[in-house]
Amino acid sequence: MDKCCKTAALYIASLKGLSLIHQHSHWTARGSSFYGKHLLFEKIYESALENLDLAAEKFIGVFGLECIDYEMQSDFLKKVLDRFSKYEGEPIEMSLMVEKEFLEYSEYAYNCFEEEDRLTLGIDDMIMSIASEREEAVYLLQQSLEGKISLEKDDEEGIEEEEEEQEEEEEEGEEEEEEEEAEEEYQPSPMDVGMLDEFEFGSGLGLDDDLDLDEDEDEDEDNIFNF
Ligand SMILES: [Fe+2]
Repeated sequence: MDKCCKTAALYIASLKGLSLIHQHSHWTARGSSFYGKHLLFEKIYESALENLDLAAEKFIGVFGLECIDYEMQSDFLKKVLDRFSKYEGEPIEMSLMVEKEFLEYSEYAYNCFEEEDRLTLGIDDMIMSIASEREEAVYLLQQSLEGKISLEKDDEEGIEEEEEEQEEEEEEGEEEEEEEEAEEEYQPSPMDVGMLDEFEFGSGLGLDDDLDLDEDEDEDEDNIFNF
């Protein structure tokens, strides 16, 4: 398998891991501001899943089915998820870290395809558009961490909405409208960003030239993309 195919495979697995991490936080969100966080994570895992589908189909078209080889995807995905399993900070901090690392890896992948003369117009466009969506996710997560907006008001409304849904079984159209409004007016709460300041982004993001999967994992713990 050539370098570009493996790079594409890791790109796919990284998006898959990223969406799973966000979705996990969507399910486990709790506390006084849970509803706003619940909606934020939903928004970003859904956009990541759309990006994943686009990327996988595009790469299959260019590099063939080899780039989604089941065993390799399983291996890459496990490494992505294991990389963040030790993280003990806030879920929003973790999601922000994952998104930023993915953006750095996107740049690496883009350069790799370009250097290898495999950067088609379609792949170029796809990587750019996905990066743009992931930057939007970074923006939302950062706003949340920096506490520029508060979730509390919407949370209370959200809780009330859910109770009403259960008790009165309101019309579906109305419920959807309320959920959309809550999403649009999403207001994250202030959070400590100390952990992010300590974290070093982009330390050794580049893949090894041969993308050696057998390399000692202990040496790769600093970055998920350094397999
Ligand atoms: Fe859900």
